[in-house]
Order: sequence, then structure tokens, then C-alpha cells
Amino acid sequence: PDEDLAAYFAEVVDAEQKIEPRDWMPDAYRRTLIRQIAQHAHSEIIGMQPEGNWISRAPSLKRKAILLAKVQDEAGHGLYLYAAAETLGISRDELVQLLLDGRQKYSSIFNYPTLSWADVGAIGWLVDGAAIVNQVPLCRCSYGPYARAMIRVCKEESFHQRQGYEILHTLAHGTPEQHAMAQDAVDRWWYPSLAMFGPPDGDSTHSTQSMAWKIKRFSNDDLRQRFVDMCVQQAEILGVRIPDDDLRWNDERQAYDYTQPDYDELMRVISGDGPCNRERMAHRRAAHADGSWVREAAAAYAAKRTNKEKV
Ligand code: 3HC
Repeated sequence: PDEDLAAYFAEVVDAEQKIEPRDWMPDAYRRTLIRQIAQHAHSEIIGMQPEGNWISRAPSLKRKAILLAKVQDEAGHGLYLYAAAETLGISRDELVQLLLDGRQKYSSIFNYPTLSWADVGAIGWLVDGAAIVNQVPLCRCSYGPYARAMIRVCKEESFHQRQGYEILHTLAHGTPEQHAMAQDAVDRWWYPSLAMFGPPDGDSTHSTQSMAWKIKRFSNDDLRQRFVDMCVQQAEILGVRIPDDDLRWNDERQAYDYTQPDYDELMRVISGDGPCNRERMAHRRAAHADGSWVREAAAAYAAKRTNKEKV
């Protein structure tokens, strides 16, 4: 009976075990995982656009090769995450259609423009840095396929973060113009990166339930705080300034006090009114349309193979 199944589900989650695709799970658990994993996957794919914009403009062959590898990694992360979402009984085609119809979302952070090469550094250091802070706890998520996908993703994110950090370090220790470029990029990406962790805990609709189900292991504000504390020392070594006059160490809290991002801006960006939302979605729709012949050919080939095997 359902109450035994529900009791078994709760026991497995409480015992820090993994719920697997064929296990019984509450419908709402399945729904929130589909929502979050799909949004995560969409973010990886849309996230290829801001940086992809700089592959043909990279300042050296070395930087071009590294950026190419990173953007390709992001495509792989998207594939991994769509595959994890499919274990919950929804197809990748459906998820992509939900994105294109505006009924599923992607991370706010990718709706900001990449105005200079230094932005590639700031994205690696800050956005991939924030992604690591958010994704390491997800390796301990109660849903097996998601947790396991995160282990490989986190390893690759570390490379993404290091290469961005190294770009910024090179610029910040270069000519005054290069230092100014690095500082300008940090100024523009700092607050949107803080907002990436989501609304404050008091406005978070899913946190309580997601934490009860051990999908979310730390609250939005806890992870945001961890990210700020990590970035302060790194900014000092980089030689860039975090654009927050009220950033200061709080001995009592053993953490940095800092200025919150603009959450009204976050809500506007999430609801489609960010600097690049229309451009990102137009690009995604065009890419999907351009790829339809590949999907049709692959499906025709697969059908031919299946018919041949049947004969
Ligand atoms: N962008 C877009 N939507 C956001 C958001 C953001 N930064 N933060 C929160 N939201 C949405 C939530 O989806 C929810 O809306 P919904 O109910 O319509 O789905 C609403 O705002 C309330 O937020 P909650 O805190 O209640 O939502 P969650 O419990 O889902 O927490 C989250 C938000 C922390 C982003 C969580 O979903 C999560 O950990 N997701 C997985 C990680 C992820 O998606 N990262 C995105 C970046 S991927 C990336 O960085 C790739 C790297 O390679 C650069």
C-alpha cells in the first residue's frame, strides 16, 4: 500500500541512501526534480552562448583552445543532465519544447552580455565558481542519477573556474588598460553571480521541501555566503576589487558582511526581462530549427536499423 511505499521512501532518504529511477517516489518529488534538473540542463546549453561569442575572438590560440574545450564541456553537462531528467519519465524532446515554449527556465546569469574578453575570465572565476559552490552539495542529492551526474560535472567545473581565474590574473597583472578591463568585468558580473544562488531564503518557494527531501542540502543564502567568503581572498590575489563598499569581515559571524544583489532585478531577469533574454531564446530556437534535419536523419537511420534487425 502507498503508505508503506511512502514510509520506505522516507527511510531511504533519511538514511542518506539514493532513490533510483525504478523506486517509488512521491509525485511532487518527481516533479520538482524534473523542474530543477531540466532548468539545470537548459542553463548549461544556453550558457554556451555568452562564452561561445568569444571563441572566434580569443586573443591567442591557447585561449581559443581552452575556451572551445570549456564550451564543449558545457554541452556535455547539458546532455548528462537531460539524460538524468529522462530517468524521471520525461523525454529530452519534451524538455527542449518546454524551454522553447517559455514554460521552463534557465539560469538568470546567462542573460547578461559578454562585452569584452575579460568577461570570459569573470564568468570562469565567478559564474563557474558559483556553480561549483552550488553543485558540490548536489553530489549528495537524494536522487541517484542527479547526484552521480554532478560528480563528473564538478570535476570539469574546477577546470572552468581555474582557466577563468588565470585569464583575470593575467589581465589584472598586465597593462593598466588590461587591469581596467578585468575590473570592469568583475564590476558587471559580481552581483548577477550572487543572484544566481536564487532569492533570499525567505522568498524561496522550494527550499523547505527540497531540503526535507535532501535535494537541496544548503539554503540559497548559506551557499551565497560561502561563495562570498571564498571570493574575497581570491580577489585579493587577483588584484581586483569586489564592487561592494560594505564588504567587511564580521568576527562574530566568522563570515563577510556583504551587500545583497538586487532581487527585483533577479525576478525581472527570471521573468524574461533581462538584458539578453530575447537574444538567447531567439538563438536557441534558431539552433533547434537548424538542427531538425539532423534529428530527422538520425531517427530515420535508427528506424531503418530496427526494421533490418526485425527481418
Ligand atoms: N535563475 C532562474 N530561476 C531561478 C534562479 C536563477 N538563478 N534562482 C531561483 N530561480 C527560480 C526557481 O526555479 C523558482 O522558480 P520556479 O518555481 O518557477 O521553478 C523560484 O526562482 C524560486 O526559487 P527557489 O529558491 O524556490 O528555487 P530552487 O529551490 O529550485 O533553488 C536553485 C534555485 C538554487 C538555482 C536550484 O534550482 C538549483 O540548485 N539548481 C541546480 C543548479 C543550477 O541550475 N545552476 C544554474 C547554473 S548552471 C551553471 O552555472 C553552469 C556552469 O557550467 C556555468
